[in-house]
Amino acid sequence: MARFIDELKRTHSCGALRASDIGKEVVLFGWVANRRDHGSIAFIDLRDREGVTQVVFDPDASKEAHEVGGSLRGEWVIGIRGLVKSRGEQFSKKENKMVSAANANIATGEVEVTVLEATVFNRAETPPFVIEDKSDTREEVRLEYRYLDLRRGPLQRALRMRHNVNQATRNHLTSQGCMEIETPFLVKYTPGGARNFLVPARLHAQKFYALAESPQLFKQLFMVAGYDRYFQIVRCFRDEALRIDRQPEFTQIDIEMSFVNQQDVFNLVEGLIFAIWKAALNVDLKDLYPDGHFPHLDFEESMTKYGNDKPDLRFDLAHTDLTDVVIAHEGGGVPFFAPIAAKFKSGAYRRDLPTEIVKAMVVPASANFSRTDQEKLEQEAKGMGAGGLARAKVGPDGTWVQSPLAKSATPEFMRAVNETVGAKENDLLLFQFGKTSSVHTVLANLRVIVAKKMGLIPEVGHGGKWNFSWVVNPPLFEYDDETKTWAAAHHAFTRPHDDSVPLIDSDPGKVLCYRYDIVLNGFEIGGGSIRLHDSDVQRKVFAALGIKDEEAQEKFGFLLNALKFGAPPHGGIALGMDRIMMLLNATESIRDVIAYPKTQKGTDLMSDAPGTVGPNQLAELHIRTVGEPQS
Ligand code: AMO
Repeated sequence: MARFIDELKRTHSCGALRASDIGKEVVLFGWVANRRDHGSIAFIDLRDREGVTQVVFDPDASKEAHEVGGSLRGEWVIGIRGLVKSRGEQFSKKENKMVSAANANIATGEVEVTVLEATVFNRAETPPFVIEDKSDTREEVRLEYRYLDLRRGPLQRALRMRHNVNQATRNHLTSQGCMEIETPFLVKYTPGGARNFLVPARLHAQKFYALAESPQLFKQLFMVAGYDRYFQIVRCFRDEALRIDRQPEFTQIDIEMSFVNQQDVFNLVEGLIFAIWKAALNVDLKDLYPDGHFPHLDFEESMTKYGNDKPDLRFDLAHTDLTDVVIAHEGGGVPFFAPIAAKFKSGAYRRDLPTEIVKAMVVPASANFSRTDQEKLEQEAKGMGAGGLARAKVGPDGTWVQSPLAKSATPEFMRAVNETVGAKENDLLLFQFGKTSSVHTVLANLRVIVAKKMGLIPEVGHGGKWNFSWVVNPPLFEYDDETKTWAAAHHAFTRPHDDSVPLIDSDPGKVLCYRYDIVLNGFEIGGGSIRLHDSDVQRKVFAALGIKDEEAQEKFGFLLNALKFGAPPHGGIALGMDRIMMLLNATESIRDVIAYPKTQKGTDLMSDAPGTVGPNQLAELHIRTVGEPQS
């Protein structure tokens, strides 16, 4: 061991050697990825994080080294000193002649290293799965042995890209005058927002810190403190239901700026996104967005056409609201639709608070969905909570066929619906009706499922399309049908449009605000707002939300106090770093771009977190547990 490392220093990584290095003596360290024997000669693929080099143990070059070579097994860690040679030529049976032996699939493919001296630093047990790019090993096993999984090419490439994106982010934001400053993770618990992880305070019996769900309040305080432009690549913690694009701890590129309007924030973020795409993929987004800006989509239009505020705009398949048509035709003879029309007639249903709606989407005839396809769609809709999936095919004369609705719907109603949704012969209509939120959820999901089935987008990944948009002008308040009250749609510190301020008391539902999300291919990759720094408007907003002074003080006291001491107009955004990496890598899951992710159940299979702790530790924390631990 002493000779290697102490005397023989590594000269190259395993991904470095090229034809121009032929003739050099080199020292390489790495892991045995593969061994092949040709007669008395052993060929090893030596791997490190930079790549793979073919290493040749030939008894004619060194008898001792050849003996070491003969003993090697997969994943052993070795060092070699050797001579770089051309791979030369080999006989191709297929072509019946000598051809180049170079391997065009790897960067070092033109050369190999003939070993003159070798050492084994460490042996390895047979790993539970083979370290190769394509792995069909179960994810649970890969997560348990994550350090082995991290040796695989896709993860190495993803983490390298993440490193490049981190660097590009720091460079770009620094060039734009942003300062990187850290904020605390252990913070005071404040209600609202995502559920927090709590940390018992040993020094303060029965008190808890919360793990910060974002640096929101602290970055606003930086603005009050005069730091003007801030950024941080920061870990955030949220104890929420996990999904394919959500982790309990995740990373934000968090930004806050003073003396800016919404467009200023967009300009900065667009420049950053351009820099990230260039660094990660060498893609120049200027080719797609020549003026350097992403299009804007009104929140309301997004909800109406696509059923959510993060639509995938790589394809159209827009939805159409049919509530007015249904009301005008008093249900059109369709039993499902009659109740809404009747409620409207009786005055029990208000169109300005549309808590129930009827919507449809058109699957074009070209999609050629069979009955089985349609039944599958219905199953999927039911899986999302739909009661069913009413559907109809448009016949030659505009009436509906292959549908139970056809029996009762009036011809005028069918024609009116076809016209409103723009359906032609053989198109398939899919209907949803009922609670607005569930109609939207179901149709928004169906839109994506149908697009995938039609081949408009790939099952996974971007398919080379990058459709960014800013979803803008959402309402400040959301109507809660259960409690019949207005609630802040995001948080209570978002600035309303100036012309909306008079509506705060009189017509809260119409108040629009400077909140924005940046959406890419159906994923919300960031969100932010221009903040409320004016205490008069702030009071009005709290009043509309029914938040009393004491309550406001208790919840947001330190921010409210700070805002009294010279708060500049300010605003900001946070980008979801992990989601961006997931999209850049065209992977199926956010776990594929995080070194040590948690499972869908929030566990770490490698270290077995969360774990139980002993009674003494709990006593120190002034905590008593109840019940049995759950696995
Ligand atoms: P928001 O809550 O919208 O805004 O979060 C910003 C972005 O972070 C990403 N994100 C997540 N990514 C992975 N796992 C999660 N559990 C998760 N939750 C959110 C999303 C999201 O768009 N303080 C505000 C920002 C601001 O107003 O400046 C905030 O945190 O991509």
